[in-house]
This record gives sequence, structure tokens and C-alpha cells, in this order.
Amino acid sequence: MLGLYKPIILIGFMASGKTTIGRKLAEILNRKFIDTDELIEKREGMSISEIFERYGESYFRDVEEKAILEAVNENNTVIATGGGCVIRESTRRLLKEKGIVFWLKVDAETVLSRTNNDNTRPLLKEDKERKINTLLLQREPLYIETAHYTIDALESPEEIVSKILDIVSASSY
Ligand code: S3P
Repeated sequence: MLGLYKPIILIGFMASGKTTIGRKLAEILNRKFIDTDELIEKREGMSISEIFERYGESYFRDVEEKAILEAVNENNTVIATGGGCVIRESTRRLLKEKGIVFWLKVDAETVLSRTNNDNTRPLLKEDKERKINTLLLQREPLYIETAHYTIDALESPEEIVSKILDIVSASSY
């Protein structure tokens, strides 16, 4: 019989690879994969960009908090979160309490090069470079506070997955 395992939760800045790594981990561990941005889009019936445009960021954060609450209460999952979910103290606490949390750490240049041709992220629509620098600076302490483990996300997806798997199998989660 399958045991009950706490969710493996990936946090980190936009374009740190949470979805790619999360999917791979879920496949290898035979767990359900949950992407909270996808869950939000499903629940709201519109894209993240549309939610931001129509209702603004603060509404998005409310919906995000609800989606995370829903996601973390399921066991045997791998969860990829949105980059800004750590903004709220209540969400940070929830993530840390309910799961084993990995912070995929990236630097500003990497984010900039990975998001160069991407216009799907409402917070990076204008003034990309400055926004990335400002948000990274604001959020790094929050990622540190929320994470149980920090993973250098500049390595290849295979290396990152293998590091996370090593930690998970050596831990009692
Ligand atoms: C956000 C990150 C996005 C998405 C939304 C807001 C943020 O998710 O939740 O656009 O505030 O950093 P990704 O980290 O998957 O891009």
C-alpha cells in the first residue's frame, strides 16, 4: 500500500524551473503533479494575465492563497508554486508546515535571459530588468525563510532533480 508522504513543494522566482523540475520529480516518484498557477487558471476560468488585468494583483494573491491551501492538503504530490506566493506570511507558514520545501535559487541575469521573449508574466511586462532586480531582492529573504532546502537552479534539470531526490530519500518526509 502507498504510504502517506508530505507534498514536495518547489518555490522560487519566475523562470527558476519549478514546473519543469516538478513534473519530472512527480513522474519519477509516481506522485500527482500540481501547478498552483494552473490550478488558479482552472478555478477562475481565465489566464493569470487576465486575472491581473481584470482584478489586480491583490485579488490574484487571494486566489493564489486559496489554491495553495487546496494543494498542500493533498499528500503524495509534487507542487510547483508561483514565484510570488511567499509574499504573504500566512502562505509561507502553510507551505513550510505542510510540505518539504525546496527553493530553486536563480540570479537576475538568468531570469532575464530566460524571460527575454516571454510576455505571459504580468509582473514582467514592462521594465523587465529593473523589476526582476527589485523583486528578487525583496523576495530572497522570504524564500530563505520558507525553504527547508536551497537548490542551485542554474544546474541542469537532471542534476537538480537528482539532488532533490537524494534529499527526499534520505529524509523521513
Ligand atoms: C508571479 C509568478 C508567476 C505567476 C504570476 C505572479 C510572481 O508564476 O504566479 O504571474 O509574483 O512572481 P511563475 O513563478 O510560475 O512564473
